[in-house]
Amino acid sequence: MSNVVIVGLQWGDEGKGKVVDLLCPAFDAVVRYQGGHNAGHTVKFGDRHFALRLIPSGILHPGQECVMGNGMVIAPNALFEELDELHAAGVETAGRLHVSNRAQAILPMHKALDLAREGAAGKEKVGTTGRGIGPAYEMKIARFGVRLAELGSPRLEDRLRTQLVRMEPELAALGAEPLGEPARIADQCRAWAERLAPYLTDTEHLLHGWLEAGRSILFEGAQGSLLDVDHGTYPYVTSSNPTAGGASTGSGVPPTAIDGVLGIVKAYTTRVGGGPFPGELLGSEGEFLRKRGNEFGTVTGRPRRCGWFDAVAVRYAVRLNGAELLALTKLDVLDGFDEIPVCVGYRCGGELLTEFPSCLETLEEAEPVYETLPGWKRETAGCLELEQLPDAARAYIERLERLVGAQVAVVSTGPRRSETILPPNPTLDRWTSGRLAEVLAQRDA
Ligand code: IMP
Repeated sequence: MSNVVIVGLQWGDEGKGKVVDLLCPAFDAVVRYQGGHNAGHTVKFGDRHFALRLIPSGILHPGQECVMGNGMVIAPNALFEELDELHAAGVETAGRLHVSNRAQAILPMHKALDLAREGAAGKEKVGTTGRGIGPAYEMKIARFGVRLAELGSPRLEDRLRTQLVRMEPELAALGAEPLGEPARIADQCRAWAERLAPYLTDTEHLLHGWLEAGRSILFEGAQGSLLDVDHGTYPYVTSSNPTAGGASTGSGVPPTAIDGVLGIVKAYTTRVGGGPFPGELLGSEGEFLRKRGNEFGTVTGRPRRCGWFDAVAVRYAVRLNGAELLALTKLDVLDGFDEIPVCVGYRCGGELLTEFPSCLETLEEAEPVYETLPGWKRETAGCLELEQLPDAARAYIERLERLVGAQVAVVSTGPRRSETILPPNPTLDRWTSGRLAEVLAQRDA
């Protein structure tokens, strides 16, 4: 049985939700290991359409176990909203959704601080989702955070007071409203604790038991590698580790138990929020990609910034994650172009860079160097075999593989499960423990 990490190799929104949903039948459990309701997974099947923010998309597969790991930051209200939506659609969660009691709680003051900081930051702002993600992780690392297991603790009020002592002066300086008494916030937390109780557990022990029983686990990263707090375009990043290493720290499953990493890449590039984006298309081509690709945030509705495929950035992400295989998504969005540029280097201060730079200023100055590939000007949606794709689309895929150093094992040409090409691939076959037939059956259902 294999355990595999699915990770975004760009700035998020690569279409991980669809790929996780598609591969689910080959795994016994799906685990999310970082982030919070800043993520948005859109999963479509039949005439149903689910926008999941916190809960792994495995929940839509009857009988599948889902874990929200210790590396996550969880706003209880957001989780309850999602649960209500799922229950209203007849999706059963009791006994299948396991939430780590070590995951951190996002509290009302975290959101208030996130919004107040962004409001005051002017052009320096990160462009966060405003969900309180950064301040919640800040409190965790400062060792003043509140784990979900502690929401009902008699000591909670003291911990809240400690957090408020740190945050209120900053909030006041930023002109935000006072947050109210710790006792009132503690009452709210106790009510959350009661509703959360049936879902909370020591997920590390649960996962270790599953590993010993030979059950296979799919780890689902949120956001993308270039938003990683260590390896991304810091400080324009999220506050967690979406990269594959985060799967281990964010779940308690050791790296030695992970068999492979499947990187998800969009056939072009998008980014939401602030920060450098070499090759951002500010004119009509960017607008075309945005409209055709429906590039508007699932969580905030913000228009995404668009550009051509950046092979420099993706090669860096392939290496960071050890991604041997790729799922290439939204190929169909490129159907209408005569020619398709691909960024193969950056020109910076007269120098040609072929490695992704760590320095923000270098990235801000970087002028993309493009290689232009022929377009195919034919519809690709509905192709179920690589051989059905236009020759130029196949050549585009092969060129990307060579440029980034990983093999494309999944091609997505639309949001539906049925719009996916899964060419025979021995590595994917091994990673899915010989259950690819079940994946294909679901695709074709
Ligand atoms: P935060 O995670 O809300 O703190 O936002 C930090 C940065 O990450 C901002 O640029 C957000 O736009 C970006 N971000 C956070 N979550 C996602 C996501 O799921 N997709 C794409 N960008 C995201």
